[in-house]
Formats: sequence, C-alpha cells, structure tokens
Amino acid sequence: RVTSEANEQHVELPPRGWNSYDSFSWTVDENAYLQNAKILAEKLLPHGYQYAVIDYLWYRRYVDGAYTDSYGFDNIDEWGRPFPDLQRFPSSKYDKGFSQIANKVHEMGLKFGIHLMKGISTQAVNANTPILDIETGKPYVENGRQWAAHDIGLTHKTCAWMPHGFMSVNTDIGAGWAFLRSLYRQYADWGVDFVKVDCIFGTDYSPEEVITISQLLRELDRPIVLSISPGTEVTVPLAENISEHVNMYRITGDDWDNWKDVSTHFTVTSAFAAANKIGATGLRGKSWPDLDMLPFGWLTDPGVNQGPHRPCNLTFDEQKAQVCTW
Ligand SMILES: *[C@@H]1O[C@H](CO)[C@@H](O)[C@H](O)[C@H]1NC(C)=O
Ligand SMILES: *[C@@H]1O[C@H](CO)[C@@H](O)[C@H](O)[C@H]1NC(C)=O
Repeated sequence: RVTSEANEQHVELPPRGWNSYDSFSWTVDENAYLQNAKILAEKLLPHGYQYAVIDYLWYRRYVDGAYTDSYGFDNIDEWGRPFPDLQRFPSSKYDKGFSQIANKVHEMGLKFGIHLMKGISTQAVNANTPILDIETGKPYVENGRQWAAHDIGLTHKTCAWMPHGFMSVNTDIGAGWAFLRSLYRQYADWGVDFVKVDCIFGTDYSPEEVITISQLLRELDRPIVLSISPGTEVTVPLAENISEHVNMYRITGDDWDNWKDVSTHFTVTSAFAAANKIGATGLRGKSWPDLDMLPFGWLTDPGVNQGPHRPCNLTFDEQKAQVCTW
C-alpha cells in the first residue's frame, strides 16, 4: 500500500506533461517518443511537467490496411490483453510490455503514461480468449466454470468513435472485474504511472467501468494517475458523479491550435471553476477538470499520421492566453 504522503503528492497539482498525439497521431514510435521525453526532462520538468504519455493504439501494427478504426491489426496476448507493436517499440516484449521504456523514462526523472481504451478489444472477444486470474496465474474460475472474453464483452456497447476496436466489459460480474484487474496489474508491473482511459466519459459515458477501474487502481501498491476522456458534452452535474473516482477528466472535445478551439473553452472553464471542481477530491488525492492538450510546438494536423509537420498556428499572444486559461 502507498503511504498517504505519496497519495497526496501524486495529484496535489494538475498533472502536466507531454502527450504524443498532436505531433505523431497514433503512429509514434519508441525513438520519437524517447527523444521528446528527453527534451521534456531537460526543458519542462523543472517547471513541473513530468508525465511523458504515449497516446492511442500503441498495440496496433503499423502496416498496410491498419488505421484508427481498422480491425485485426492489434497485438493481444493469450489473455486478450494488448501488448506493444514490437516494430514501432523494439525494446518492448510480448510478456514485459513497456517495462524497458518505462525504465528509461524513470531514469530521466519523468513519469510514464499510456493511453488506453475502455473495456476489451473486439479481437479478444472474437477469439474468446480466457481471462487471467492475476492472483493464481491461471484462467479465472467462478461458480465451477472458466470464464472468457465472450462472457464479458458488451457487444451492444462498442466505442462509438472506434466501433471495430473496443467494447465495454460487464462490470456486474466477477469475470469483468477479473479481466480489468489483469490489465491494470500488468500496467503497474510495467511501471506505468499514468493512464488516460478513452471512450469512457462525456458522450461515451460508462460510469460503472470508470468506478471499477478506480477501485482496481486503489488496490495497487503503485499510485497511478487516472485520466478519463473524451470530454464532449460534459456538464458540472456529470462531473459531480465521477470526479471523486479519478484525477483528471476532460470537459471539452479535442482542442487544436486555432483560436476558435481555444475560445470555446472559456465558458465551460468558468462553469467548472464556479462549481469548485478545480482541485476537488479525487482518486487517492485530488481531481482536475481537463481542457485537453496545449497544441504548441511542432505538430501535425488531426489524423495525419507521419506529418507533414508544421509549427503551431496560434500567435504567441494566443498561446499565452491559452496557457493562462488552462
Ligand atoms: C448521477 O448519479 C445519480 C445517482 O446514480 C443519478 O440519479 C443521476 O442521474 C446522475 N447524474 C448524471 C448527470 O449522470
Ligand atoms: C494550421 O494552418 C494550416 C495552414 O493555414 C492549415 O492548413 C491547418 O489546417 C491549420 N491547422 C489547424 C489545426 O487549424
């Protein structure tokens, strides 16, 4: 169990850092990620930016035919759990995942974060992979029978913006908990410090799963920051039901580097400030409404994989206004 001191420290201030998405879409690789982490450690860590986060689809093989909602290109292990694309992340291993990258990031003085989707992958459900009982290392058995992916995948609750990729799991049954526990224990073993769980909030609201993940993270020795997304159509009453279970929750849709995106954050920001949600009680510490990324520096446009890259479109004054608002 972590000490209360570690609990407090881990989200006493809004978690800040760097996320790969705005510069590399889903196709980021180990080299690009570590080079950016190095710059983060040198230039921004002294100002409190400590999380280096690999954004979505790190388990998808980057080959012809693979795209953001493709089916059949994901690496899943014998228990239906994703593992990294070995070509893009050559230091990763089938059974050790991102451990090596996490070590390197920790050596730089940074914390290691990854993006996750809610629930279970459609590939795992179709393959009906067994569920790992992380306590015994064997298939999960309850009421005298083994449970598998078919039993927990909610095929009517696929992710609206990635319907071929992932679906919710049934958290009303022990097998659903066992599966999620097998995921999050593994991420803790890899050395993960931060998870951004997507397709679980806002218009994709799955409160049962958010609360289950939160409980499972409380069980861990390792404090892991829980950040949830996306933030479309988030209101203060919706956040009231969830903020104590998480550390960050998006309250807007994706933010890019044009003034219209920045200016549409003002009203929602003041509503959450007025409701005292900034630094309210959260998982093992505090929780923070999240306005999405600061799209500064050397970027691609949304959905463009490997560039062309370009400088941020905001003027310097606009960037300063955005930092102040955030
Ligand atoms: C919050 O939770 C309560 C109790 O479960 C429920 O009645 C209410 O509708 C929820 N509010 C929102 C905005 O989801
Ligand atoms: C940035 O500016 C370029 C050139 O005007 C434009 O093509 C691109 O769509 C802009 N990107 C965003 C995210 O607004």
